[in-house]
Amino acid sequence: MEIFETRVAREVPGAWLVVGGAGYIGSHVVRRLRQDGRAVVALDDLSTGDAARVPDDVPLVIGSFADRVLVSAVLREHRIVGVIHLAARKSATESVSYPRRYYRDNVEGMRVLLDEMVDAGVTRFLLSSSASVYGVPSDPMVTEATPTAPISPYGETKLICEWLLRSAGRANGLSWVALRYFNVVGADDPLLADTSHDNLFPLVFQEVAAGRPATVTGVDYQTKDGTGVRDYVHVADVADAHAAAVERLERQQSADVYNVGTGVGYSVLEVLDAIRSISGLPVEVVALPRRPGDAPEIVANVDKIARELAWKAGYDLEAMVRSAWRAWSRLDAASAL
Ligand SMILES: NC(=O)c1ccc[n+]([C@@H]2O[C@H](COP(=O)([O-])OP(=O)(O)OC[C@H]3O[C@@H](n4cnc5c(N)ncnc54)[C@H](O)[C@@H]3O)[C@@H](O)[C@H]2O)c1
Repeated sequence: MEIFETRVAREVPGAWLVVGGAGYIGSHVVRRLRQDGRAVVALDDLSTGDAARVPDDVPLVIGSFADRVLVSAVLREHRIVGVIHLAARKSATESVSYPRRYYRDNVEGMRVLLDEMVDAGVTRFLLSSSASVYGVPSDPMVTEATPTAPISPYGETKLICEWLLRSAGRANGLSWVALRYFNVVGADDPLLADTSHDNLFPLVFQEVAAGRPATVTGVDYQTKDGTGVRDYVHVADVADAHAAAVERLERQQSADVYNVGTGVGYSVLEVLDAIRSISGLPVEVVALPRRPGDAPEIVANVDKIARELAWKAGYDLEAMVRSAWRAWSRLDAASAL
């Protein structure tokens, strides 16, 4: 079959396939692997991604990972040695209204991808999982052994993907790692900025730049200042965690889940303070009632990933807000032209 590509494919002996490589996190991962000298191919249907985020020397295959014929051809023609799967529907709120859509794309789609990998003899898999698998934990500091209890269909699909991987790993000899990201923020480059409408940083930037107040849902939690506490992690650190996981998958057989966070929690008000001081804008706050199902506080214990993958986040909150604000302001200025 003919594979449609935006660029002429190079000969790529033994490449990693980054599914969702034109997305916010995926494009950082693509660049990070290229820095290490790895051959990379991106597969993306551009539903939320942007082809411009993929570097010129990386073949971009446009299409869905649920398209058996396409995936089979890509795995073989590019001699793929491992798959990094980042493509998913990712809004917990939206998933409550459209659960079947989330199960179809996140779970059924990944099953098709695994089928084709097993068929093509590709045995390494790295999954984007999420802190949402923990739901509302009784102890806010979660380890990988904390019981999983997702509260949204989105979180359920991420957990089922982990289970599917674990079972297929055993049955089909796959070597795999699932990275449970916490709140990913920042950008290495304005071109790679997070433009999602679901994440706190872009939402607040949009509001304050328009002179509107930032809304804070829940100000009466038992936390340091009453607002929700989360573990924010810079996307460049997240990309480094992928590079460490890829190295492990190339070196040894693996069947592991890791938290990817900083181990430090910041409240919404602390984030707004940082945005206020870095942007120089007055950030007014409007308090709204709690949203059902929001955890008061959730922070990653990152001992396991430090011990086994020698990975530790390097950026603090100020650096994260600074990079995100710089990227967002340049994007905003460019879109106003
Ligand atoms: N952003 C976060 O804070 C966060 C936190 C935890 C987990 N995650 C997970 O990380 C992954 C990446 O998130 P992101 O923030 O970069 O999102 P994103 O929307 O920017 O990236 C997803 C990419 O996948 C592509 N895609 C979607 N469906 C596809 C399909 N059927 N076939 C091919 N490509 C498809 C999109 O076009 C997009 O480029 C997701 O799996 C998400 O659930 C993100």
